[in-house]
This record gives sequence, structure tokens and C-alpha cells, in this order.
Amino acid sequence: MSSAQIIRTKVGIVGGGPAGLMLSHLLSRAGIDNIVIEKRDHETIRNTHRAGILEAGSVKMLTDTGVDGRVLTEGHRHDGIDLRFNGVSHRLDFQDLVGESVWLYPQNEVFVDLAVARKRDGGDVRFSVTDSDVLDLTTDVPKMRFTDADSQRFEVHCDIIAGADGSQGICKRAIPADERTDHFIAYPFAWFGILTEAPPSAPELIYANSEHGFALISQRSERVQRMYFQCDPNEDASVWTEDQIWDELQKRVDGPDGYTLKRGRIFEQMVLPFRSYVCEPMRYGNLFLAGDAGHTVPPTGAKGLNLALADVKVLFEAIDSFYAAGSRELLEGYSDTTLERVWKAQNFSFWMTSMLHTREDQSSFERKRILGELNSVATSRYGQQYLAEAYTGWPSA
Ligand code: PHB
Repeated sequence: MSSAQIIRTKVGIVGGGPAGLMLSHLLSRAGIDNIVIEKRDHETIRNTHRAGILEAGSVKMLTDTGVDGRVLTEGHRHDGIDLRFNGVSHRLDFQDLVGESVWLYPQNEVFVDLAVARKRDGGDVRFSVTDSDVLDLTTDVPKMRFTDADSQRFEVHCDIIAGADGSQGICKRAIPADERTDHFIAYPFAWFGILTEAPPSAPELIYANSEHGFALISQRSERVQRMYFQCDPNEDASVWTEDQIWDELQKRVDGPDGYTLKRGRIFEQMVLPFRSYVCEPMRYGNLFLAGDAGHTVPPTGAKGLNLALADVKVLFEAIDSFYAAGSRELLEGYSDTTLERVWKAQNFSFWMTSMLHTREDQSSFERKRILGELNSVATSRYGQQYLAEAYTGWPSA
């Protein structure tokens, strides 16, 4: 192998998903040189289906910084959700409750917009890299190494490394085990997710609790819908027929109002296991974690991408103040600052998950208690406001 070519930059970013690209975008706008490396290719990320709800703050980050306004034209503003239990829907009107909305705009579209913006602005983003690692993290010159798509080996010398390489990435694992605490819980269920060619079954998202388990009726466009139902983590998605899937979804939203899902051809079906995880601290020397690299939440609260972008905002401001004012103060405080929001979101995601899902061994007491909990949210303005504030996103730090 030929010897490694040395590149000098200010910030090395591991991970070219939405978090890594957004950080790169913000840094470049502030004139801070950076390089992004990503092991997947552009098409793979573009076709990775993830959640689709953006908080107003996330939308603002895209539109105010000149990424693209496509979120406003192609995305759909949602002013509320339906909380459905015992076969009855309760609408939570976010505008009335907290004066906010969310946008339905899938994560892969956010990725596409950011990738286009990075290309347009001459950003240095290397997709399809292999053999990447990070080293010298506690020195003044942390480094990342990788082999690019043309088999050329590189060593990037930086001041700061951002680990935005997702829950399975290398950065979190580069923090020695005795320097971090892994806070972790698993759940005894997963989501069976589908994409279907059908018109929307409802104007807004429906989060449904039933004795048969949870279901989420979400959307993608006028012609494509996204839906999920709670399943066993070991479920094999491929053995389910379309009719079985539709019957299972319908069972969980059935009610005296006769609500019926609009069925269509299912063109993707997969099981999404989930867990809650936080790496503390989200920093080691000059390595700073952002997004799923530092924490994962179950999808029930739609917080994953929003939290990642909130991390990026805090990290960008810290890096910017380091270069603009020579101060390390915000960098030193990064982990504590960002973890405050992360733990609020962990609590919200855990709460939504436990309130809406049904455990297989659920006792009659537990079933009734959960209905009491759902009722205390749905029939109280204070309860509704608590959910609405968390769902639409707390103000940033
Ligand atoms: C989605 O549309 O994929 C979606 C929406 C809301 C969630 C999770 C996933 O809470």
C-alpha cells in the first residue's frame, strides 16, 4: 500500500449522515475548514428509511442557514396528532396548546438536501471510505485515517474531531471504557414498519394504544404512507403477507367510530428493534460525539434526528467560539449542555413508549393503569401541553 497522504484541516467529521453534514455545513459557513468521511455510499444513505418528523427548530436550522427550503414546499406542516386508545381518538392541537407545529419530512430527504448543499458550496465530503479510525484524541492534533474509494490512504490532522457516525460507529468505541458510562436499556418489543402505496388514512399522525399493541399511522406523501405496529424483536418481517399486515394494523386502530385504514400495495416491510442509550460524557479530549453516536432513543417520540441536530447546534457554537474568540469554555461545557436536552428526550421517548405499548404479560391492573395514564394526558389541558411541548421540541439552550 502506498504511504498515507497527510491532510491538514480544522475539524474532522466522522459520519456523513444528517448530523455530520449539518455540522460541516455550519462550519463552512463560518469559514471553518473541515472534512467529512463516511463509510456508506450516497445511495445507501439516501435509501435508508428513518423517522419523518422534524421539530420547528430543526426546520429553522435547514431554512435559516440556506440548506434548502424544500422542507417547506415538499414537507407537510402538522399542527397536531391523534392519541387513540380504547378505539377513541383524542386530537392534541399543538398550535393551540403550545403555539408550535412539526413538519413531516423524512430523514432521507434531509440527508439529500444537506448533501446537495455541501456539493453546491464546495464541501469536502468523502463517501465510501474504508478502514477508518481516529487516534491521538487527547492531544492537540487528533487524527482520523481512512482509505478513500480510489484506495488512496489518508491521515487527516485536525484540531477537533466530531464523531457523528451513528450508534454502530467507531468514535464512541474510541473512548476508553473506563472514561465513559454506557447508560442503556432494551425494550421487550420492536416496530414492524411498512411503506405502502396508498392515500393517507388520516390528516395527521395517529399514535394508537390497544390491547393488541401499539400502532403508528404516519405518512410520506399523497401516494405513499408509512405505518408501524409493535411486534416481537425476533419477528421475521418477510413471512408476513400483505393481508396479515393490514389486519394486524387495523385491529390496533379499530373502534366504535368505525375508523378504517386505506389499504394499498406494501413495498417495504421491516422490523426495527429499538433501545435507549446514552454515552456519558459525550466528549473525550478533542473528540466530541453528536447524534446517534452518543445516544439513541426509541422512535415513539420522533426525537432521534431532532436531538442530533440539537447536538450539532451546540457543538457548532462551541467550535465557532473556539476559533472566533480563542475560548475553550463552550467546548468544555459541550457534553453537559447537550446531555441536558438528551435526558429530557430520553425521558419523553421512554414515557411515550411505555404508555403506548402493550407488554405481552400485561396484567389487568397494568392495562387499566395505562388507560388511566392515557386519559390523564388526553383529557387534561396540562397533560396535553406536557406532551405537546416535548413533541414539538423544547427551546434550545
Ligand atoms: C415516521 O413517519 O417514520 C415516524 C413518525 C413519527 C414517529 C416515528 C416515526 O414517532
